[in-house]
Order: sequence, then structure tokens, then C-alpha cells
Amino acid sequence: MSKARPRRSVLYMPGSNARALEKAKTLAVDCLILDLEDAVAPEAKSEAREKVAQAVRDGGYGRREVIVRINGLDTEWGADDLAAAVPAGPDGLLVPKVSSASDVRNACAALDKAGAPKSMRLWAMMETPRAVLDALAIAEASAEPSSRLDCLVMGTNDLAKDTGALLTEDRMSVRAWLSTCVAAAAAHGLTILDGVYNNFRDTDGFAAECKQGRVLGMDGKTLIHPNQIEVCNTTFSPDEAELERARKILEAFERPENAGKGVITVDGRMVERLHAESAAKMVVVADAIADIESE
Ligand code: COA
Ligand code: MG
Repeated sequence: MSKARPRRSVLYMPGSNARALEKAKTLAVDCLILDLEDAVAPEAKSEAREKVAQAVRDGGYGRREVIVRINGLDTEWGADDLAAAVPAGPDGLLVPKVSSASDVRNACAALDKAGAPKSMRLWAMMETPRAVLDALAIAEASAEPSSRLDCLVMGTNDLAKDTGALLTEDRMSVRAWLSTCVAAAAAHGLTILDGVYNNFRDTDGFAAECKQGRVLGMDGKTLIHPNQIEVCNTTFSPDEAELERARKILEAFERPENAGKGVITVDGRMVERLHAESAAKMVVVADAIADIESE
């Protein structure tokens, strides 16, 4: 559970792409997902596994959180991926196609068995119809003492594939699924990341989808190309106007005359104590982002 750590921009790269693994060290992303799954062809799996393990071992990714996406533990590659990734020491493993609480437990048990330190986290792809329908149970598994789960990652391409839903610009078909998973993540203090925007040359379309994710309550968005990073970081950071309002709300509740009040007026709008809680959270997030950006 690491909500204070900004996870605004989360860039995937194929584990087989040495250039991308190197370039990632220079990019202004919060997290990296070194992929061994969908972005790597079957014949390139073992080479990618070695490359990723070596890259993680060599390090050089600075403050960026480094996550390895392994193949499913029920595939022919999953166990080897896990066995190679864990000793390399990434911040976490992302497991694809998690569909139930027992999938979370099994992945945690596999990490324990491989000798992963407790600090190594588990991220779960939410990309099957079952995962959406069982989102609460999946998130709830994070409350078990042995759980490492702290982030849910929407896999909208797989959801569209499995359901036959069409991915339109307004994402009308997947919005309810995104919101269901946002609620499940929020119920257990997990980070939740939006799915990728495939048409990476369309910067306006990407900006609109980023904004939509923020409106829906996502903490950040998964990305596929460096040209998506800047807009994503900006969209998922509180802006100046939001911060100014948050500070005003906090100040207003701190005034002696408002000490016993549950509801007050700030700039003509009703503000309750719950807004002060959100404002305090926003300031913490903004401070964490400022720390990153001053590095
Ligand atoms: N991570 C790191 N660097 C990346 C990158 C990524 N995901 N995507 C592109 N780059 C780099 C390229 O290496 C290139 O660097 P250079 O010019 O310094 O050598 C630069 O960014 C520009 O790349 P560009 O030529 O515009 O893209 P491309 O045609 O080489 O690649 C994709 C396009 C879609 C194949 C590539 O962006 C990609 O593989 N994205 C990730 C896909 C993925 O991991 N999917 C799984 C989850 S959905
Ligand atoms: Mg997938």
C-alpha cells in the first residue's frame, strides 16, 4: 500500500528491446514495466527474460519504480520468468490475467517460495471479464497479512478482446469496468492505473483519454511510448488552481472560528470536513511530486 509514491506515468517496454531498456533510464516516468508477456513473441521469450534480469540487476533506473511483467504462472514461461526476475531484485512483479483472489494468493506464495524479500510488491493486471466481476475480492486479498498486492493495472485491450467490446474514443464500452475497478482499489487503498492508448501518434486523443482517466479516479496511466509521458505526468499531477483551493480549504478549517464546524463556505462553495481530507491528501501528493521533480 504505497499511495504516497506517485505512480502517474507507467511505461511498458518489450523486454526484448535493449534500446528501450537503456533509454528508460533517461525518461521522466514514475514507473517502468519491463514486459516479458504480450510485447514479446514466443520465440524471443527466453532471450527477453535474460535481458530483463540483467537490466534490473545492472540498475541505473534511479528513482523510477521497476516492475517486471511476467507471463502467467499457468503458461510454459511463467515459472521461469519468476525464477529469473526475483533474484534480480525489481520493485515488483506484474502478473497478467489475475481473475480471482486465489490468483493473488498463488502469486504471493510463488514470490515467497522464490525467496522474494517482503519489499517486493505484486501488481495485478485487471484484464479478464472475471477480474472485473470479482474486482472487490481481488482487492480484498491485499488485506491478508501475507499479501504483497498494492497495484491494479487495467488491461483494456484484453478486456475488449475477450468481450467483443469495441474500444471507441470515448471508451463508452469500458467505462463501467474502469469505474468498478477504481472503487475496488479505493476500498483497499491500492493504486490503480488506467490502460494504454494504442494510437500513440495521436497526441490530442491521448490527452483526452488521460484526462478521462483522472476524472474516473485513476492514479496514473500505463503508457507505450515516450511521447506520452509529459502529458500524463501533468494530467495526473494536481494543477496550481487545484492546489491553491486545497490550501485555502485547509487554512479555512484551521481558523479558530471554524474549529467546531462541519461545514463552511470557501469562495462561495460548500466545503465539508471530507473536502479537507481530500485537500490534505492532494497536498501530500503534490509534495511527493515536487520532490521527484526537483531531483
Ligand atoms: N520504452 C522506451 N523507449 C521507447 C519505447 C518504450 N516503450 N517506445 C519507443 N521508445 C524509444 C525508441 O527506442 C526510440 O528511441 P531512440 O530514437 O532514442 O532510439 C524513440 O523512443 C522513438 O521511438 P519510435 O521510433 O517513435 O517508436 P518505434 O516505432 O520504435 O516503436 C512501438 C513503437 C509501439 C513498437 C514501441 O513504442 C513499443 O514497443 N512500445 C511498448 C509496447 C509494449 O510494451 N506493449 C505491452 C503493453 S501494452
Ligand atoms: Mg494483456
